[in-house]
Amino acid sequence: MEYVTLNNGVKMPVLGYGVFRINAEDTESHVLDAIRVGYRLIDTAQIYGNEKGVGKAVKKSGVPREGFFLTTKIWITNETYQQTLRSIDGSLRRLHTDHIDLLLIHQPYGDYYGQYEAMGAAYKMGKARAIGVSNFYQSRFLGFAAWQEIVPAVDQMEMHVFQQQRSLRRALEKYGTQIEAWAPFAEGREDYFEDPVLKKIGEAHGKTAAQTALRFLIQEKAVVIPKTVRKEKMEENYQIFDFSLDREEMEEIASLDRGKTLFSSYHDDETGAWLRSKPNTEIDCK
Ligand SMILES: NC(=O)c1ccc[n+]([C@@H]2O[C@H](COP(=O)([O-])OP(=O)(O)OC[C@H]3O[C@@H](n4cnc5c(N)ncnc54)[C@H](OP(=O)(O)O)[C@@H]3O)[C@@H](O)[C@H]2O)c1
Repeated sequence: MEYVTLNNGVKMPVLGYGVFRINAEDTESHVLDAIRVGYRLIDTAQIYGNEKGVGKAVKKSGVPREGFFLTTKIWITNETYQQTLRSIDGSLRRLHTDHIDLLLIHQPYGDYYGQYEAMGAAYKMGKARAIGVSNFYQSRFLGFAAWQEIVPAVDQMEMHVFQQQRSLRRALEKYGTQIEAWAPFAEGREDYFEDPVLKKIGEAHGKTAAQTALRFLIQEKAVVIPKTVRKEKMEENYQIFDFSLDREEMEEIASLDRGKTLFSSYHDDETGAWLRSKPNTEIDCK
């Protein structure tokens, strides 16, 4: 495994396992598989409704807690300082731990200043080793970060070969904020795993398009958190440290960038309303 050092000195693995859209009842066994393959960074969120499964797998694995890097994200309905503090305790309980390695604001909507203040308090109490944001596009990030005593350690964003976030990454660099790539395979959209450039470059190294894409992203200094429920794909996605892409190959993949989202745009009116309407039944923040 390779690591990055966050702007507060905490070490973070560059490759992790994401559990978005994994059912609560299946999470424990998939995360246990991922742990057996070697993953130690596990990325969950309050809204995923599967923090308990992650906590159970970590406990069952026999790997000491210090060996893991657990991330969770505060959902938008935990809007105030007090609600956020309570929800952090809920996440800690569900994850069977006394600290979260990385705590993120999930979405740049609602009272995220109040959320972040509470996350800062949790950080000072030792309940989080690092705090940061997610889905903070460039102008939102810059407006926010400039006012914070604790500079966000991470911005977790959509990032894959078709959306390389070049401009945002330059802005993050100014604050030493690490980019973390969600949907590093664009969830398979646009025939990602059949992309001719990724396939051709991968074949030259005896690697798949998926491995080539992840390698590109980590060489671009992103942390990646691919999701799969198939153990053989977990293994495939883990085998990205035994080859490297040269400058020409990096440039060819860089040219795939379309510079725009393949998902919901944070610049559209509907996105906030849609996120606000999401069911919240599994979030126990008491
Ligand atoms: N902060 C946010 O707002 C946000 C948003 C989205 C995601 N995330 C995080 O980022 C993580 C990853 O993103 P994601 O789950 O949306 O999408 P993703 O990792 O880009 O893609 C997942 C899809 O790719 C397939 N896949 C995985 N490895 C493969 C391989 N080697 N070959 C072929 N297919 C493969 C999976 O299939 P199977 O599962 O069927 O095997 C699944 O359909 C999430 O789990 C979550 O932790 C965060």
